[in-house]
Amino acid sequence: MSFKRFPSLTIYPNPLVWSVYSTRSMFAIASRAVKRLAVRSPAGAAPMSSIVSQIPVPTSPTPDHPGEPEAPKIVTSTIPGPKSVAALERISKIQESGAVHFFVDYEKSQGNYLCDVDGNTYLDLFSQISSSPLGYNHPAMKEAILDPKNFTLLMHRPSLGNLPPADWVDRIERTLLAVAPKGLSQVQTMMCGSCSNENAYKQAMIWYMSVQRNGRAPSQEELETCMLNTTPGSPNISVMSFNGAFHGRLFGCLSTTRSKPVHKLDFPAFDWPMAPFPKLKYPLSEYARENAEEEQRCLAEVDRLFREWKQKRPVAALVVEPIQAEGGDNHASPVFFQGLQRLCKEHGAAFIVDEVQTSGGNTGLMWTHESWNLPTPPDAVTFSKKMVTGGFYYADHLRPKESYRIFNTWMGDPTKIVQLEAVVKAIKKDNLLQGMSIVGNYVQKGIEALEKAYPQVISRTRGMGTLIAFDCATPALQGSMIKRLRELGVEIGGCGSQTIRLRPALTFQPKHGKVFLEILEQAIREAAQTM
Ligand SMILES: Cc1ncc(COP(=O)(O)O)c(C=O)c1O
Repeated sequence: MSFKRFPSLTIYPNPLVWSVYSTRSMFAIASRAVKRLAVRSPAGAAPMSSIVSQIPVPTSPTPDHPGEPEAPKIVTSTIPGPKSVAALERISKIQESGAVHFFVDYEKSQGNYLCDVDGNTYLDLFSQISSSPLGYNHPAMKEAILDPKNFTLLMHRPSLGNLPPADWVDRIERTLLAVAPKGLSQVQTMMCGSCSNENAYKQAMIWYMSVQRNGRAPSQEELETCMLNTTPGSPNISVMSFNGAFHGRLFGCLSTTRSKPVHKLDFPAFDWPMAPFPKLKYPLSEYARENAEEEQRCLAEVDRLFREWKQKRPVAALVVEPIQAEGGDNHASPVFFQGLQRLCKEHGAAFIVDEVQTSGGNTGLMWTHESWNLPTPPDAVTFSKKMVTGGFYYADHLRPKESYRIFNTWMGDPTKIVQLEAVVKAIKKDNLLQGMSIVGNYVQKGIEALEKAYPQVISRTRGMGTLIAFDCATPALQGSMIKRLRELGVEIGGCGSQTIRLRPALTFQPKHGKVFLEILEQAIREAAQTM
């Protein structure tokens, strides 16, 4: 197979894309690396004397998935295998497709195991960029899709803002309202994470400007100048976000994304303020004082920015992820987030929590911000990914007074609410959130033990539930570790410049954690030998 048709991106060093793990480059690397692929089927790859096998495997309430494989199985000598390569050649003729890992046999995939078209079976630690809540072919999902009561919804694509289906409110009550963050009962569905953030920002700005107008109607001048994209109708107000933040790729939210140039290069952006996000030292117990000081430093800077920008572009809203995901799985303590909310209140800005990646259960909570013990709910909480549908909750004062101010053709997708209902039921019936805490705790302990044994390879193990990450010694090692794990049958993700992140489905059990830890140990041991 010639790779000439897939000109490789140079991953290192290229300031634009160096941390984006391109499949084309993986292609080239894989073809070389697979020659040294000793272990075809990595089940039991780690010897019994391994570090991770010393850690007791806990029991969890999460039920087994019927028909799920026992272990990953790699049967091709290259990854992607020849059928994926052929399909990739075809798709490359019609679209840019450098990010494709391999083509998937979704019918064959079961539970936490993803099957590719070449017959390889991977343990899935990434769940479709953290967005597949129940894994593959979950019985509850199948039941929902096959239920005749849902057929009509599957058949139509209503414009929900104009013509909602008869049972729409019932469905929202059984899903989004049944699991709503404490204190928030207004909710708007949307299509994806970016458009959820984009519309939450707009809604916050409508509220902010109505406060500035002090109840008066928009002036004629405002109505005319907004059509010219100038003040006062298009006001000079801003959204503050954080260094390392990721809030999506549409124009508004992209101006608050600060993770990597690949997302931002060549696009005009709003001139909006960026605050520092704390960079915590690990283990947390050893650096309590330094980390508290770091968080106070960042809060002081947020306060300073609010004041500075009041003069040029007042901050209407501040947006923050509970755990910065794409930016490198950066955590902060509840004290930091409480401080942010306090500053927003002091400066009259909306406090928006972007839970696109942290909601829906991976952290052991439906809503990660509920671990902060805020005195009042955030003004808006955005979601997507494991919540299946995009959307946002908001406090009553953020509710727009006029129709069509927050609007688009579909305003979400009712078929996603059908799926979400199956997810919500399974979470409750199978105690999946408790399961996430149990397996997360076990896997984190395992990675910490590996970090202790191989500090030259990995560091800064951190996590909440199964939303776990660790740093590799170098950015290059991040790339080669992800590649090696895939060769050993684990699909996993990277983030930041040298971080590896785990984002399994909510059905991930300790037995899957054990398989993963054994494979990770092998990959880390191999990496140590090359250092
Ligand atoms: C925290 C966060 N916000 C927003 C987004 C954007 O979501 P989408 O890719 O669905 O537009 C993402 C996607 O990864 C995210 O992680």
